Amino acid sequence: MAKPIAVELSVNGREHHLFVDLTETLLTTLRDRLLLTGSKRGCNQGVCGACTVVADGVPVRACLSLTANCVGEPIKTIEGCEGDRAMSALQ
Ligand code: FES
Repeated sequence: MAKPIAVELSVNGREHHLFVDLTETLLTTLRDRLLLTGSKRGCNQGVCGACTVVADGVPVRACLSLTANCVGEPIKTIEGCEGDRAMSALQ
């Protein structure tokens, strides 16, 4: 079993310091660890789009993205759209 690695994630403008397995998906990190449940687990295969978040300005499927690969990419979830005047791509 691989050792967890330390990562720093920027989610909705907040910095998070976590230890994650290399195989942990961004969706698991957001929902199960950061309790940001606005991104849904639908197909869990990259098809339905229910898990979509914005990473570094680009919409990505969180169920197919590894958390360890998201270091340095600001993440925005649907919770981060609260207060936005303009409609977000997530909405
Ligand atoms: Fe369906 Fe991610 S859960 S695309």
